[in-house]
Amino acid sequence: MARNKLPIHTTLSSDAIRILERYEKEIGAKNLVLEKALLSLDSSRFKGKFDAGNIERTIKRISTGVKGLDDTLEGGIPKGFLVIVTGPPGTGKTTFCMQAMLEGARNQEKCLFFSFEERVEQLVQHFMRFGCDIGEYIDDGYLDIFGMSKLTSEEMMEIIQFYNPERVAFDSMNVLTNGDEFRSSGSWRSLHRLLKNKKITSFFITEKKHGIEVKEFDNFDFLGDGIFFLDSVPTNEIDNTPMPVIAVQKMRATKIDSSLQPFKFTDNGIARYKAVTTSKYPRISIPPKIEEDDIKLESS
Ligand SMILES: Nc1ncnc2c1ncn2[C@@H]1O[C@H](COP(=O)(O)OP(=O)(O)OP(=O)(O)O)[C@@H](O)[C@H]1O
Ligand SMILES: [Mg+2]
Repeated sequence: MARNKLPIHTTLSSDAIRILERYEKEIGAKNLVLEKALLSLDSSRFKGKFDAGNIERTIKRISTGVKGLDDTLEGGIPKGFLVIVTGPPGTGKTTFCMQAMLEGARNQEKCLFFSFEERVEQLVQHFMRFGCDIGEYIDDGYLDIFGMSKLTSEEMMEIIQFYNPERVAFDSMNVLTNGDEFRSSGSWRSLHRLLKNKKITSFFITEKKHGIEVKEFDNFDFLGDGIFFLDSVPTNEIDNTPMPVIAVQKMRATKIDSSLQPFKFTDNGIARYKAVTTSKYPRISIPPKIEEDDIKLESS
C-alpha cells in the first residue's frame, strides 16, 4: 500500500480513519487539519478508556500454574502475551506448559495443546501424572490435545478460530520452523497476528543447544513477550547433583526477578523452591549456592 494512502497518525481509531477515507475519496486530497482534529477527539477517548493512575489494574495477569513463580512476575503473565518456554533437552519445558494449560482448564478457560512429536496417549499419561483427572477437563471441553500433529499453520489457525481458546501451547516450535522464518514468513505472521488479536496467552516451546550460562538467543526470543528459560545446574560448588532451575529472562510490562529459581518435579507437577535471601545464599549466582535444607518447597 502506498504511504500516501495511509493517515499520518497511527493511533487513529477505525472510526476516524473511515471519516478520513470518505473525505479523501470525495475531495481527492488529504486534510491534515481534519486529521489533527480527529486525533485530538480520539486522544480524549483514550484518556477516558485508560485510567493512568490505575494502569496496573488494566493489565490482567494469568497464573503460570507453578506455585511461587507468579510472585516473581507481579502476579503472573499478562493475558494475551506470547511467551517462549525454552531450554536444553529434558529440562521440563513440556511439563511447564502442561501445567499452565491445566491451570487454565481448572479456571474454566479453554486450552489447546499442540504437540508435534508426542502421541496423544503419551501426552495424556504425562498430564495424568499431575494427579488430576484431565479426562474431566477434556469431556467438559476445557482442554484439547493434538498429538503427533502434522497440521499446517493454516489448519492450526482454523482450529484456533473454531475453539476460541484462552491459552495455547505449541510443543515445539522448532519442529515447525525456525525463529528467522517465523518472523519473516507471511503464513506464520498470520498465526502470530491471530493469537495477538484474539488475546490468547500463547506458550511457544523452543529448543536451546546450550544451557543458561551461555547467552544464546534466537529470533523466537526477540519475538516473545516473555521468556522462561529452564535448565539444570549443579546444586552447589561441592555437590554436583543437577538441580532444575527456571529463570524469567524477560516479561514485557512487568518487573521481573530474573534470578535462577530452583524447582522440583513433584507429584503435582513443577513447584518452585522459595529461596532464602541471605548474604550466605545470594539468589543470583551460577551455580546457585543454595542448600536444600535452606529452601522450602512452595507447595508444601
Ligand atoms: N514426577 C517427576 N519426578 C522427577 N522427574 C520428573 C518427573 N516428571 C518429569 N520428570 C523429569 O523431567 C524430565 C523432562 O520433562 P519434560 O518432558 O517436560 O522436558 P522437556 O524439556 O520437554 O524435554 P524435551 O526437550 O525432550 O522435550 C524427564 O526427563 C524426567 O526425568
Ligand atoms: Mg518436551
